[in-house]
Amino acid sequence: MSFHTIRQAPARLNRSELAVPGSAPQMFEKAAQSDVDVIFLDLEDAVAPDDKAAARKNIIKALNEIDWGTKTMSVRINGLDTHYMYRDVVDVVEQAGERLDLIMVPKVGTAADVYAVDMLVTQIEDAKGYKKRIGFEHIIETALGMQNVTEIAAASPRNESLHFGVADYAASTRARTTIIGGVNPDYAVLTDPSQDGSREVHWGDMWHYALARMVVAARANGLRPIDGPFGDFSDPEGYKAAARRAAVLGCEGKWAIHPSQVALANEVMSPTEAEVTKAQRILEAMEAAAAAGKGAVSLDGRLIDYASIRQAEVLVEKARQIAAA
Ligand code: GLV
Ligand code: MG
Repeated sequence: MSFHTIRQAPARLNRSELAVPGSAPQMFEKAAQSDVDVIFLDLEDAVAPDDKAAARKNIIKALNEIDWGTKTMSVRINGLDTHYMYRDVVDVVEQAGERLDLIMVPKVGTAADVYAVDMLVTQIEDAKGYKKRIGFEHIIETALGMQNVTEIAAASPRNESLHFGVADYAASTRARTTIIGGVNPDYAVLTDPSQDGSREVHWGDMWHYALARMVVAARANGLRPIDGPFGDFSDPEGYKAAARRAAVLGCEGKWAIHPSQVALANEVMSPTEAEVTKAQRILEAMEAAAAAGKGAVSLDGRLIDYASIRQAEVLVEKARQIAAA
């Protein structure tokens, strides 16, 4: 290990994160009763300009009055390039800061953006005498944000998670895409002809680089990497495939832009019973190996060593968190 210690963000379950427009208060109760881990009440892109002020009021009232149970509550503020943003922060944190766990910052582009929000939130928290510190989740969804993702990830001790905002990222990079978070058949290669002359089209994941880059920046700073939206909510299999490939890269959660996607995210982002049992067996086997003075042993015909312990510990800890939720 490096001598540099990575401070880890508070351990929160973040398998699923449900987007709920602040202008749709009729959806709030249902969201509060769902099995979602994190809810973000949206003031940004799901809310039309004329509805921003009313949405802010709805969110403040809902944070104060609805029983959200143990859910992690977040509000997505407007971008720093808008004139809505300062009032989003001032009104929501002043009037509902006690129940707010996180602020989601969209289209964050530089570390200075994070600094600016931090400064505002710190002043309000101090003025109000809040004991709890509000955390930050940042959406990496512009070319600038992706270029500066490393500095953004390290920009504030409030940072908890980075989110891949694939829809805006596509717009910002001018990627050729049609379905939010889906694939494009043009992102493919042709195999060489086989003996009978036939060739296969192999589709690729056009978001791989962006997602992988964000995961590294997040983990190097102790933050949770979270995959963003999948727009086609009538395609659960497509959603699960997208979630699985994000989980394989190290993401620990995915957005739900429709309530039906919550269960899918929770399922994919939770370790299976078989995985937990295997992890427990690895820990037992390594304990026995250590007692016998060995550093690496085999289990079921495969090598396990100290790196296997760290992976197994992460899995067992996740299972413990889920059981405690
Ligand atoms: C989310 O905000 C996105 O743009 O994908
Ligand atoms: Mg966006």
